[in-house]
Amino acid sequence: MTSKTVGIIGGTGWLGRALAEALLDSQFIAPQHLLISNRSGVTAFEPGVRLLADNQQLVDESDIVVLSIRPEQFRELRINARGRQVISLMAGVSAAAIGLATGAQAVVRAMPNAAVEIRQSFTPWCSNVSLDEQEALWIQGLFECVGSADAVPDEACVDYLSALSGTGPALPAMLQLALTRQAVAAGIPPDIAQRAAQGVVVGGGHMLARHDPQQLIDSLLAYRGVTAAALQSMVDDEFESLVGRAVEAGAQVARRGM
Ligand SMILES: NC(=O)c1ccc[n+]([C@@H]2O[C@H](COP(=O)([O-])OP(=O)(O)OC[C@H]3O[C@@H](n4cnc5c(N)ncnc54)[C@H](OP(=O)(O)O)[C@@H]3O)[C@@H](O)[C@H]2O)c1
Repeated sequence: MTSKTVGIIGGTGWLGRALAEALLDSQFIAPQHLLISNRSGVTAFEPGVRLLADNQQLVDESDIVVLSIRPEQFRELRINARGRQVISLMAGVSAAAIGLATGAQAVVRAMPNAAVEIRQSFTPWCSNVSLDEQEALWIQGLFECVGSADAVPDEACVDYLSALSGTGPALPAMLQLALTRQAVAAGIPPDIAQRAAQGVVVGGGHMLARHDPQQLIDSLLAYRGVTAAALQSMVDDEFESLVGRAVEAGAQVARRGM
């Protein structure tokens, strides 16, 4: 269990709350070492976790400050975090911009996704200053409380991955809806289309947790039947380029900032 005090600005939001609850449940941190702030005063954490209305007080009492507010809310935030380690979960806000606005020299940018809710997020992260082994292990351990994590070489990777893993369930949800709607258009009753498409995405996801995707595709192609024809049509229509363009469109927003 860490002896550091962690303050989460925006710790009652979707992402911040999920992270805070996971840190407590996995005993990464004791309740008395966790500080949360928001503007509304609404909270429902276990006894010991302190909710503060004053962000500067949170910064002053924390060793590590986590920014879990939206980028547009960050523009209004007034804190002096000089001498503090800041960890930003915000998409599209550079470490330089965070340093400029808060005075913090050491900024980690990390990009979890909505699967923090089920503790299966993948979180890429990078630091703008070099960290020693203990510091890097601590950051890695923090994010492993909500799934898996990797240190990545630079912010460009975080920006690109914001549009890939950061989108969490968005891409499979889009696939599921497309499969459902196309099945309905082909005459399948809507409730059956919905169950069939969900089975593909959710059941397929479970299988992919245990199988290599290329091996799965190769073994299904070997039947030279229905699945092979469907896959070939996707290849002919440049499915991979379509996916690449979609992620690139998101990454451009992350690079440009919000
Ligand atoms: N959700 C995701 O899947 C996801 C994935 C990757 C990254 N992110 C990043 O995570 C950040 C938070 O997203 P979210 O989905 O958790 O948003 P959210 O649910 O709207 O949470 C924002 C939180 O910030 C608080 N807040 C806003 N302004 C504040 C201020 N000045 N001082 C203190 N607290 C303040 C809000 O509470 P009050 O209204 O009570 O102040 C709320 O608890 C965003 O920057 C987003 O880019 C989110």
